[in-house]
Amino acid sequence: MTRYQDIQRHLSENRYCWLITGVAGFIGSNLLEALLKLNQHVIGLDNFSTGYQHNLDQVKDIVGNDTWGHFRFIQGDIRNLETCNAACENVDFVLHQAALGSVPRSINDPILTNENNVSGFLNMLVAARDARVKRFVYAASSSTYGDHPGLPKVESVIGQPLSPYAVTKYVNELYADVFARCYGAASIGLRYFNVFGPRQDPNGAYAAVIPLWVSALIRNKPLYINGDGETSRDFCYIDNVVQANVLSALTSNEDAINQVYNVAVNERTSLNQLFAMMHALLVDKFPHLKTFKPEYADFRAGDVRHSQADITKARNLLGFKPTHVIQEGLQSAMDWYVTDLSKRSGNGPRNHQAV
Ligand SMILES: NC(=O)c1ccc[n+]([C@@H]2O[C@H](COP(=O)([O-])OP(=O)(O)OC[C@H]3O[C@@H](n4cnc5c(N)ncnc54)[C@H](O)[C@@H]3O)[C@@H](O)[C@H]2O)c1
Repeated sequence: MTRYQDIQRHLSENRYCWLITGVAGFIGSNLLEALLKLNQHVIGLDNFSTGYQHNLDQVKDIVGNDTWGHFRFIQGDIRNLETCNAACENVDFVLHQAALGSVPRSINDPILTNENNVSGFLNMLVAARDARVKRFVYAASSSTYGDHPGLPKVESVIGQPLSPYAVTKYVNELYADVFARCYGAASIGLRYFNVFGPRQDPNGAYAAVIPLWVSALIRNKPLYINGDGETSRDFCYIDNVVQANVLSALTSNEDAINQVYNVAVNERTSLNQLFAMMHALLVDKFPHLKTFKPEYADFRAGDVRHSQADITKARNLLGFKPTHVIQEGLQSAMDWYVTDLSKRSGNGPRNHQAV
């Protein structure tokens, strides 16, 4: 039995109270679905800045009305300390996901990104400390590796940040570390690499590459690859991220606490390879794809060239064992997008892909 299966069994017999910030977003709504299925009590906080009511509605449809009764939603903003305090009341574990993602967004508006990702984060740390939560697990980011060329990325070796977003995510780690030293707060930071899966938003100027491309492929819209297509990433399916969060919240290994971990699969896929895989998965369902070709555009400011995670630390200290490599994850994500996008009206995105 894996450590995760062990913990899942423990959770199905013991109900805790969890707070998920950013619950209406991509990762937050998947955490919500997983925890409700494990019979947990969940409080969700979101201001709907980039998240959607339809993500919550979809989880409700999946888990059913009875289980949905174990969820309480607070519409509010982490930039407000009182809101954070109210949300943390009687909570055992915090999974802090709320932030403004996207490197280009942070380059366009560094102040807004800082307010959400740094001031909001600090509010949540203070509220979690004052509510004496058992553990504060937060979304860090692979962007913290910045310009360091080493591959695969090991947690202890980082470079200079390449964007305001990367600065905010690194500051999160510094604050969490200082809160452990000054107040004895117990946290774990998860440096997500490029996460993908159901409910990731395919629309808007800051959409991530996989949903953006699925949407372009299905809707027969132009699809742009930034640069020569040899930029590479360690694409991580959402189930692996859910697993890392649950393991982090429940680990009883003292050495594992107040640490940061890479969360990915230790694989590297170029954008050209990614396009080929996605195209192959969709071409039989959508005949227009037989002649579909991507277009190549400029490299994008702030992007790192290559990224791949060493996941030894998470394996050893948390018992993390990814269940999905990219191909398996893409298959599941595609099935979901095909169903979901065909339900929605086809106002296609402007798709300059963001990795
Ligand atoms: N998706 C990835 O590949 C990836 C990679 C690295 C790190 N992350 C981090 O993971 C977390 C979740 O990302 P995601 O992909 O689910 O993004 P998302 O945009 O889908 O979800 C973020 C959620 O946070 C909410 N939110 C934002 N600011 C808020 C505020 N001030 N108060 C309350 N709610 C607020 C949004 O409305 C949204 O629902 C973020 O912290 C992001 O930086 C994501």
